[in-house]
Amino acid sequence: MPFPLDRPRRLRRTAGLRRLTRETRLAVDQLVYPLFIASGRNLQQEISSMPGQFRWSVDTAVCEAQQIADLGIPAILLFGLPEEKDEQGTGAFAANGIVQQAARAIKRAAPDLVVIADTCVCEYTSHGHCGVLASESDPDILNDATLEVLARTAVSQAESGVDVVAPSDMMDGRVGAIRRALDGRGFEHIPILSYAAKYASAFYGPFREAADSAPQFGDRRSYQMDPPNVREALREIALDLEEGADAVMVKPALAYLDVIRAARDRFDVPIAAYNVSGEYAMVKAAAAQGWLDEQRVTTEILTGIVRAGADVVITYHAKDIATWLHQ
Ligand code: PBG
Repeated sequence: MPFPLDRPRRLRRTAGLRRLTRETRLAVDQLVYPLFIASGRNLQQEISSMPGQFRWSVDTAVCEAQQIADLGIPAILLFGLPEEKDEQGTGAFAANGIVQQAARAIKRAAPDLVVIADTCVCEYTSHGHCGVLASESDPDILNDATLEVLARTAVSQAESGVDVVAPSDMMDGRVGAIRRALDGRGFEHIPILSYAAKYASAFYGPFREAADSAPQFGDRRSYQMDPPNVREALREIALDLEEGADAVMVKPALAYLDVIRAARDRFDVPIAAYNVSGEYAMVKAAAAQGWLDEQRVTTEILTGIVRAGADVVITYHAKDIATWLHQ
């Protein structure tokens, strides 16, 4: 039916028509809000490269978590900033570690809020790498030795009451190792959300300032994925699912929308996308200059991530989006 009979503009004329014919709906139900937990009391310290994001102590994190739950956001993702770091990253699995303390306190105050723990050691190691090093100056991490540390970390997180563990290290075989360790300790009901396709991205810059987790030497390219690859991402996802992942993640989101789409088309499991710190910082910086309309740009970005196929979006914009969606 060619023009002049077919006029697609007819359905765009009013806000009501646009609402009725909308193909993608962004909902509060899809959001996960990341939180950084540090030691101390009464702490709310803004992260300079991520305006509007803070380092919280356990007590202030509890209040923040309650507000997040009141906004209807279903889940948070916890990162820990330990007081002391060491070569092995033992703070990641300490029974009284920072994430373990926060999880216990938050689950007590807001039992229905889903608490996801990032399962990795880079925030806890003195060298900032996501695993056990072969030698003090070699960033080529020992894969199999790291699996034990990750499995211990996941079990310790489950013991402290987290609802989901999310390994973000990119070691081979870690989902299987974590699944076996959890099952062996009676945590067969705890799901694994794996950072299956996590790229070696420059968009993590602000996060590494927030978590003080930049590698002290070398980079993460021997374990995180090479940005040009999409077939490899599908292979990583397939392997994680075979090992027992319940849901998988693509990270970052914006420069990887094709990866999200390819994953959506191939796999029938929940797919999460991580709208990372650098993506957030770019929007915040431009909005602060008055160069972009923050609400419209943020809504457009998150809608795009959902349109690409993400079921869940992990984003520092979650509270803002939830507030706007409620208006
Ligand atoms: C830990 C981890 C990182 C992020 C999430 N988990 C940092 C990294 O891999 O360097 C980045 C999140 C963000 O940039 O918002 N491995």
